[in-house]
Amino acid sequence: MRRRRLGGSSLEVPVACFGAYALGGGYWGPQDEAEAVLALQVAIDAGMDAIDTAPVYGFGRSEELVGKALRGRIGQAKVLTKVGLTWDARLEPGDPRLAGVKHQRAPDGRDVAVVRDSRPVAIRACVEGSLRRLGVERIDLAQIHARDPHTPLAESLGALVELRRAGKIAEIGVSNFDARGIDEARAILGAVPLAGHQLQYSLLAREAERELLPQAARGEVGTLVYAALDQGLLTGKVRAERSFATGEGRGKRRSFQATNRARVNRVLDEVVAPIAAVHGATLAQVVLAWTIEQPGVSCVLVGARSRAQARENAAAGSLLLASAELATIRAAFERLRLAPGPGAGVRTWLKYLLGR
Ligand SMILES: NC(=O)c1ccc[n+]([C@@H]2O[C@H](COP(=O)([O-])OP(=O)(O)OC[C@H]3O[C@@H](n4cnc5c(N)ncnc54)[C@H](OP(=O)(O)O)[C@@H]3O)[C@@H](O)[C@H]2O)c1
Repeated sequence: MRRRRLGGSSLEVPVACFGAYALGGGYWGPQDEAEAVLALQVAIDAGMDAIDTAPVYGFGRSEELVGKALRGRIGQAKVLTKVGLTWDARLEPGDPRLAGVKHQRAPDGRDVAVVRDSRPVAIRACVEGSLRRLGVERIDLAQIHARDPHTPLAESLGALVELRRAGKIAEIGVSNFDARGIDEARAILGAVPLAGHQLQYSLLAREAERELLPQAARGEVGTLVYAALDQGLLTGKVRAERSFATGEGRGKRRSFQATNRARVNRVLDEVVAPIAAVHGATLAQVVLAWTIEQPGVSCVLVGARSRAQARENAAAGSLLLASAELATIRAAFERLRLAPGPGAGVRTWLKYLLGR
C-alpha cells in the first residue's frame, strides 16, 4: 500500500482509506454488524489503516462499529471523523439553522432531520461524542462535514484549534467546501495546517478537476476523495438485475437508473475489463487505481461492507496503471453520457437531448 502525506500536516495516510459510511446502514440498507467489524479489521491488516467515519453515519452506529473494530488495536489505524452535522441540535426555535434541514434515513428506517451546526459549543460536544463512541483519546483528523452558513468560519475553526491544542484532535480538515472556502480556511488557520479536504470525485463525477483538484495539486491542501466507486456502480457488480429496497438511497440516484447502469457497465466491460485482465485485477481495483493517480488526489475513501470487498479495495492501493491506460480510461468515460435522473427538469432534458 502506498502512502501519502495530507497537505502540509503531519498526517500520512494510505492511498486507499476505509470509508465507514455504508457500515452505518440506513441509506445503504441493512448491515451485518459482525461482518462490518471483521471487514474493518481485515482492511487494517491489509494496510488500509486509516478509517473515515462521521457521527451522522447511522446516527452514531458507524463510529461505534469503528470503535469495536479498534478495541485492543488502538494506534493501529488513524481515525478520521467529522463535526458540524447533528441530529440532536440544541437550538432555540427560530434559529436560522433549523430552516432547510435535510432528512437522512436512520438504521431503524426513520427519516431524521439533520442540521448543519458548527457553533463552537456544538463542535466541542460533537468531538466528545465521537471520542466516546470510537473509544480513542484523540481523533487523528477532525473535519467540518459541511459548511454552516450561519456560523462564522473563524469561530468553528477556532474551536477546532483549541481542541487540537488540548490534544483531543491531531489535525483539522473540511469537507464539501468550494475553492474560496478553502482559501478562507487556510487564511484563518495561519500556521496551523489545513490537512485535508473531502470532496466527491470519480470517473462519473469530475467537476473537481475544474478548481478543487488543481488547488490541491498546488500543495494548498490534501484531498480525500469520496464515492470513487460511485457507491458501488463502478465495480461492475451492479447489473440490471440488482434491485434496491425502497428505503435505500442508491436506487434513486441518476447513475443507478436502468439505462445509465447499462451504459456504465458497457464502458467497464469494453474498456476497463481488458486493462484489468492485463494486471490480474478487478474492475473496482482499476477504477480506484485510476482515481488515486489523478493530479491533486491524495487518497480515495472507499466503502466496503464485507471482508471480501475490504481485501479487494485494499489491494488497489498497490496497483499502478501505465499512463496510456489512464488516458484510455479517461477518454472512454469522457465519451459516456448519462441520461437525466428522476425529477430532472425540462431544461436538463433539453440540454441532454441537444447534446450540450
Ligand atoms: N464528506 C462527505 O460528505 C462524504 C460523502 C460521501 C462519502 N464520504 C466518505 O467516503 C466514503 C466512500 O464513499 P461511499 O461509501 O459513499 O461510496 P463508494 O466507496 O463509492 O461505494 C461504497 C459501496 O460500494 C460497494 N463496494 C465497495 N467495494 C466493493 C467491491 N470491492 N466490490 C463490490 N462492491 C463494492 C459497497 O456496496 P454494496 O456491497 O452494498 O453494493 C459499498 O458500500 C464513505 O464511506 C465516507 O467515509 C464522505
